[in-house]
This record gives sequence, structure tokens and C-alpha cells, in this order.
Amino acid sequence: MLVKAYAKINLILDVLGTRADGYHELFTIMQTLDLHDVVELTEAGDIELVVEGANLTAGQDNLAYRAADLLRRQTGYSKGAKIKLVKHIPLEAGLAGGSADAAAVLRGLNEFWGLGMEASELEALGAVIGSDVPFCLKGGTALVQGRGEKVDSLPSLPPLGVLLAKPSFGLSTGQVYRLYDDIRKPLHPDGQGMLQAVCSGDVGGVVARLGNALEQVALARHSEIREIKEILAASGANGVLMSGSGPTVFSLYDNESLAVKTAGEINKRNFGVWATKFYTSKADWQTLQG
Ligand code: C5P
Repeated sequence: MLVKAYAKINLILDVLGTRADGYHELFTIMQTLDLHDVVELTEAGDIELVVEGANLTAGQDNLAYRAADLLRRQTGYSKGAKIKLVKHIPLEAGLAGGSADAAAVLRGLNEFWGLGMEASELEALGAVIGSDVPFCLKGGTALVQGRGEKVDSLPSLPPLGVLLAKPSFGLSTGQVYRLYDDIRKPLHPDGQGMLQAVCSGDVGGVVARLGNALEQVALARHSEIREIKEILAASGANGVLMSGSGPTVFSLYDNESLAVKTAGEINKRNFGVWATKFYTSKADWQTLQG
């Protein structure tokens, strides 16, 4: 069985405060992208993980492994599965690549093992694995609140073109949040305005309100992110923003071909570039038999 694991960006990310559990209270709108990893599931006696296309450990600290292990322990299922992860989403990038893999493993193994778990049960398990996993299970365009476990689907936006540009280094989500706590005057993007723009399908309004409270932290520490923002802004993009806890910067275009064309034109110097689009069709959202 093949399952696609889609990347995400945050169109807006506001941090409302710190929670008693040490996590941060979020108000963020996430958007699934067409860029995806592929998870292949085949029969095996135990849980086995193989990773292709990235220098990533295939051990028990991998979120895909943890998802399979948690699902099996939770349900008492006795067999295993070989999980082959073919990575295309960059790592430590703010694109939820690891969470997307974990979500695809939960969705896929639920079917592959015939467990019959409800979507809400999978989301609750997903939240144990990581804050972005519940959104990755639902996908599309959604308002995500709490630590990441409250996910409300929003109307789909048009399939806008997206260019992703990631510097050669990665950022640790935990560290970015810790640095955020030290900021004296954090900036708060217009979350309610963005929500209204998304709900009314106002693409111009969405582009005008792109904002990320964590960007301030990353920009202050890494001049490369500012430079990439400037290059993308000069590329004819409709809007430019860092995604999640970074360091990937995304820029939006009217359609995917414009993103592809721009990817070929910009001087990439020391960063990687991926052209993709908003993933809005749920036609092959679930699992792909293969
Ligand atoms: O949930 P996840 O393991 O993906 O989060 C990684 C780190 O990001 C957490 O350990 C925490 O430091 C930080 N985080 C946070 N508030 C959130 C989500 C993540 O502080 N809502």
C-alpha cells in the first residue's frame, strides 16, 4: 500500500501565550501542499523502517516509527509492517515533514492492519506523537489552535503556486519557541483578519495578511532567511513568509507554473528551492493502493 504524506505551510501563525504544560497556545492557519513524501507499507513480522532520499535515522526516534509503535500498542495488534519512507520534503524545515510521515503511517496502517479506528481516534493518537500530526491527518486548509490538537477545516483556497526556499541549515522547533519566550515585545499578526479572508475566499486579503510570530526570532538569528525573503519578494511573488518555526521561506504565485518558472529564474546560491502548489483536491487524500 502507498500513502502520500503531504507538507504544510502556515499562512498565519500567532502565539497567544505559554501553557501550563510548557507548550505554546497557537492560532494558526495551515495549508497542505502538493509536495509530499511517499510511505510504502508491506507485510512484516515486526515494525521495520527504511528511509530513502534523506539522511534520517530509521530508529525508534523517527516519528513514523513512533506512530506505528503507538498504534500497535494502543490496539494490541500482533503483527508488524515494513515501512519504507521515500523523502521529498526537506527536514527541519518548518514544513511538518516528520509529522506528515507519522500521519500517513497512522492512516495507512489503520487500513493495512484493518483496525477500523475513527478519524477522531487517530487524531488523538497523532497529538501524542507531535503537535502538527492532527492537522496532517486532516489536511486541506484548517484553523489550528491549542497546542495543535484543535483542527477546524476551512473552505479550500484556489491552488496557488508556492515556491519553497530553504537555507542549508535546519532549525529545531523547540529552540525557536524558547527564543520566542525571550522576546520583549513579540509581534502578533492579524489572525482574525486572515481567518475572515480565508473563509471568504479573498486571496488578495490572504496575501496581505501573511504573518508569523516566530519569524522575528529566526530573522534576528539568521541573516540568510532575510536574504532569501528579499530574493523571493523581488521574484514577482504575491507574498513571502517564513513557514512554521522555519527556516523555510515560501512565496505565493497565482498558479504552479509561475512558481516553477520562478524557481528556474532565481539565483539559488546557497539554498534549496522546490516549486509546488496548495493541495486542495481530496480525491486521492486517503490511501493509494499500489
Ligand atoms: O509537538 P512537537 O514535538 O512537534 O513540538 C516540538 C517542540 O516545539 C516542543 O517540544 C515545544 O518546545 C515546541 N512547541 C511549543 N508549542 C506548540 C508546539 C510546539 O512550544 N504548540
